[in-house]
Amino acid sequence: MDKIVVEGGSRLVGEIKISGAKNAALPLLAAALLPTGPSTYKNVPLLQDVSTMGKLLRQLGCEVDGRRTMTIAPPPGKHPRGKHHYEAPYQLVKTMRASILVLGPLVARYGHGRVSLPGGCAIGARPIDQHLKGLEAMGAKVTLEHGYVDVSCKRLRGASIVCDVPTVTGCENLMMAAALAKGRTVIENAAREPEVEELALVLNKMGARIQGAGTHVITIEGVDELQPIEHAIVADRIEAGTFAVAAAITRGDLLLRGARAEHMDAMLSKLRAAGAHVTVEAGGVRVRGGGDLAPVDITTQPHPGFPTDMQAQFMVLAALADGQSVIKETIFENRFMHVPELARMGADIAVSGRVAVVRGGPKLSGAQVMATDLRASASLVLAGLVAGGKTEVLRVYHLDRGYEAIEKKLRAVGAKIKRAKA
Ligand code: EPU
Repeated sequence: MDKIVVEGGSRLVGEIKISGAKNAALPLLAAALLPTGPSTYKNVPLLQDVSTMGKLLRQLGCEVDGRRTMTIAPPPGKHPRGKHHYEAPYQLVKTMRASILVLGPLVARYGHGRVSLPGGCAIGARPIDQHLKGLEAMGAKVTLEHGYVDVSCKRLRGASIVCDVPTVTGCENLMMAAALAKGRTVIENAAREPEVEELALVLNKMGARIQGAGTHVITIEGVDELQPIEHAIVADRIEAGTFAVAAAITRGDLLLRGARAEHMDAMLSKLRAAGAHVTVEAGGVRVRGGGDLAPVDITTQPHPGFPTDMQAQFMVLAALADGQSVIKETIFENRFMHVPELARMGADIAVSGRVAVVRGGPKLSGAQVMATDLRASASLVLAGLVAGGKTEVLRVYHLDRGYEAIEKKLRAVGAKIKRAKA
């Protein structure tokens, strides 16, 4: 197993090209099940989760070719051909919850989908009740047995769905299902994340009739058939945000090439509040760190609020700031697992329930640390960039799920960082 070794203290200067967004790529790959022929995606991020989705699509009978540019040919016809072609097995789902994204397309296109129930995960219980409630409202028969959710329906029909919570993958699943349903579906209290908008854009390119993505109400007029498309995947706002924090805390100067500032409003305004200099340039977003960092209070919220996927990284910034920050996590109930690890590096953080009080200031010192989820791992790499001495981040497989070649990108702008065998 690999580890990341960081020698802290370098100022990061230069340019980093932001990769395609993991959380846009995963639903887009699943959406390739819907059209009548092969679709091609460009700017696909080279990530473990993307490989897992590729594996799952192959299992479902798709032909999947390429990596950076990926072509996916779904099985022809309208009926699944045997169990393997409609089932997402436990072995794959347990490594990636986003496997649930094939459920909507499978039912819509082939009339039947069966996905192992994802179960809880390190950051929270993460139920899928809203996905299932929506599919049931569209006329699907949903059964839970032997750890699998089995959903079938000859032809889904449009429905009015009010989500109890705005759920990103839930909304994506329902949009994909509704795209081929008979009649109109309205999703209220919809998630407004840029990845939901990106999926709607691509489905519409395929011939779907979706309006309102990016707002609280999405309306989908079902069509009988969708056409294959070609599409380049949007830049990853969370990868960009992670490197933006790296620039701020190392007092560096980074141009995040391709980053879309309009997807990053909440985090960029917190970076500015912390004292970083943020400018939007033709090629992307530029972040410069300067004097002392000011504390920042953060409450995670669905988009356009501050993203939970940036909470751990901003906690490192808060740990270095001159004063006290209060960080509240409202999306996932167990997303403070980086706290004990940051404490081992000298951070002063007190957690009570969903609130972390960070008393910034003390210099961090390098240590061996390990993380239990993707964004927590990223925060430990960030801490390592500014800590005195050497930091070793273990369990790098978490990072590889969502950051493409993070050590190479950081090394190219001056970090002393490498991957080694643990
Ligand atoms: N929820 C329910 N019922 C549901 C679905 C969600 O109660 O049926 C709750 C969740 O428990 C949570 C809240 O709703 O409290 C929001 O969860 P959501 O469904 O939006 O999360 P997700 O779709 O499972 C995606 C991202 C996550 C990101 C969250 C929140 C993908 C593949 N994953 O997850 O990304 O944290 O939205 O923005 O898009 C990551 O990249 O590190 C990551 C975890």
